[in-house]
Amino acid sequence: MKNMDSYTHVRGESLYVDDVNVRQGTFHAVVFDSSKAHGKIKSIDYSEAQALEGVERIFTYKDIPGENEIGGIIKDEPLFAEREVHFWGMPIALIVAESEFIARKARGLVKIDIEELPIITTAKQAKENDSLITKPRSFSLGDAEKAFADCDYVFEGETFSNGQEHLYIEAQGAYAEPLENGNIKITSSTQGPTAVQKTVAQVLGIAMHKIEVDVTRLGGGFGGKEDQATPWAVMAALAAYHLNQSVKLILNRHDDLRMTGKRHPYESSYKIGLSKDLKILAYEAEFLQNAGAAADLSPAVAERTLFHATNSYYIPNVEVAVASCKTNLPPNTAFRGFGGPQGMFVIEAAIAKAAHEIGIPTRRIQEANLLDDNDVFSYGQIATKVEAKNTWKSATATFNIAALEKEVEDFNASNSAFKKGLALMPICFGISFTNTPMNHARALVHIYLDGSIGISTAAVEMGQGVNTKMMQIAADVFSIPIEKIKIETTNTTRVANTSPSAASSTADLNGKATLKACKVLLKRLKTVAATYLKVTAEQITLKDEFVYIEDKKSKFEWTQLISMAMLERVALTENAHYATPEIHFDKTKEKGHPFAYHVYGTAIITATVDCMRGTYEFDSVKIVHDYGKSMSEGIDLGQVEGALAQGIGWMTMEEIAYNDEGRLLSNALSTYKIPDIFSVPKEVEVIPVETQGHELAILKSKAVGEPPLMYGIGAYFAIQNAIKAFNSNYDLKFHAPMTPEKVLMGLYENPNTSQH
Ligand code: MTE
Ligand code: HPA
Ligand code: MOS
Repeated sequence: MKNMDSYTHVRGESLYVDDVNVRQGTFHAVVFDSSKAHGKIKSIDYSEAQALEGVERIFTYKDIPGENEIGGIIKDEPLFAEREVHFWGMPIALIVAESEFIARKARGLVKIDIEELPIITTAKQAKENDSLITKPRSFSLGDAEKAFADCDYVFEGETFSNGQEHLYIEAQGAYAEPLENGNIKITSSTQGPTAVQKTVAQVLGIAMHKIEVDVTRLGGGFGGKEDQATPWAVMAALAAYHLNQSVKLILNRHDDLRMTGKRHPYESSYKIGLSKDLKILAYEAEFLQNAGAAADLSPAVAERTLFHATNSYYIPNVEVAVASCKTNLPPNTAFRGFGGPQGMFVIEAAIAKAAHEIGIPTRRIQEANLLDDNDVFSYGQIATKVEAKNTWKSATATFNIAALEKEVEDFNASNSAFKKGLALMPICFGISFTNTPMNHARALVHIYLDGSIGISTAAVEMGQGVNTKMMQIAADVFSIPIEKIKIETTNTTRVANTSPSAASSTADLNGKATLKACKVLLKRLKTVAATYLKVTAEQITLKDEFVYIEDKKSKFEWTQLISMAMLERVALTENAHYATPEIHFDKTKEKGHPFAYHVYGTAIITATVDCMRGTYEFDSVKIVHDYGKSMSEGIDLGQVEGALAQGIGWMTMEEIAYNDEGRLLSNALSTYKIPDIFSVPKEVEVIPVETQGHELAILKSKAVGEPPLMYGIGAYFAIQNAIKAFNSNYDLKFHAPMTPEKVLMGLYENPNTSQH
């Protein structure tokens, strides 16, 4: 089944926040933000801005009736700066005017005097200055220190992976409309409608039931709207509250890039120890996460780095630690993979380093250490139904790794200006919010009296196709065509107290709730049919809009059945709650069983480097992926391809740059390069691993949103291997992204003749 949104997307008919029909007299808002990364606000003069014709009012922290401090995990983030600013782009005021144009013009008239304070932009500097968001955490398994002593090989090194801009196509924004009795309705481009509702209530100092948040869909979120959609919605609501008029606030691209956080840059160090037969006996790593100026989701992201620090390998002795470091950058936030990719890059770097030093192909170490059933993760979960070896074997056999390697060798032997490199990238990603209490969802299902169905859940459609999956579930249970099913907007008045659509778990959580509600309704309908047909409910099935008795088609149709149920006064609405069973985690011991299951896969990536220019192309990416039993092959393939491209972008071309003053330099699409149709791999082949799927996955169809992003990590190593083929003096570096500039320097560096 294809994504139900494709039709309106292609025709330009899909609705986003900016498409909402606004009330007459609606005001438009622009955020006035800090033009320094750290400092004391000495004075602000709004008089000229306020006097501009068409400016309605300018709101600051002084206008907040409730709390100014927001933040989902730690309330350490002012909605509007009070006396100090902590990052370049930090909101200070909201300028509300008749038009966005006027508000923007007024912004240029605000005069501010900031006394600058010293700034910190890197995690290392922050750590040295004891500038931390929370206490560092660590996971430990076995006795790493002791194990290192027994290793035949021990290698150490450092890595860096840069941030990444979400670059959702729809920028952040919200529309707030005051209703009667002080109620406010907010249309928001958020992954977390409840986070918006809760925060608006806190900032305004009013009850949550006065706030309704509605989401039609997002033009992409990628984690950037899990928590960071909230401030803009709160600002619009604050202005609507005071003015008793609708207010629209949509960031333009420059404002969005400057004011919002990104994937966390990480500075890390590792120590890896192996036996003669290439078993990794011990692994140590320290991850310094650049959290930016406030907590946001950083502690949770940091936690997931630890969970994925050993990727898909079994390592008996592990000691990994992470620190969320506070810097003067915009607060960094959730981004597809949620800290997992940063952890996985480091173990892959450590393995590449070990292989290089020992003088063997990296894949020999990778293969020798793949997880197996009953292996234990450093956090105490026992691995079951592991597909690490399956996907590896399937990928290397199906795609004939020996032949692929020979092709690369032959090419490199006969070409001097171009070199190829190949890398394998196995992945293992845990499914569930690592914060156990967040793993729940509800679904509200109405069967209308004409037999059509409306479903409300907490699932936010952001392009990942979750609405289509919800539709499929109901269509499957009732055996009716999908045309009879509608997925309603995500709305806090229909489904309350929700977790954000994130952690790749949206389809599992909301799908299981939907399935549960539909099954209850089905049972009721079977009883109605059985009574009418004078058989038992167990003899009844529904198939293609007809009632069947013992597999024999009756004349009784779906719509008649619904009419009959109405006459019998049977409830045609059901609300179901689902909470993932089995999972738990004890943070005091850092042990437990946090994930419902893991998703596995293996990618083989081949790159060609132009050794004159330092540029590169990806010839092919061949993947064996663990979909479980995919319920929607087209959608899932789209997720793998999209995530792969995004992962390759992060690892090889997207380069976020701040200057020494903490100002974002890569503040436009002309200075920030994301993958395009020319830079994605020439060939992408994805085949499913043969498996039974997992009971805790919706219809045994495993979560697919984030895991394939990490195949992109292989792109870094494919390029690195090509550089090695050209320059035998090349000293391995793990400093992502591997931009053409770095490639060029790597191709021509010679540690014997120059410093590098
Ligand atoms: N795919 C599209 N097209 N747009 C998105 O914003 N977000 C990703 C992934 N795939 C995203 C996407 C992220 S970060 C997550 S966590 C999951 O989708 C969320 O949706 P799911 O839980 O339904 O997989
Ligand atoms: N993943 C994604 N988002 C989250 C998580 C997680 O594990 N925890 C809290 N928000
Ligand atoms: Mo995704 S980073 O969990 O929104």
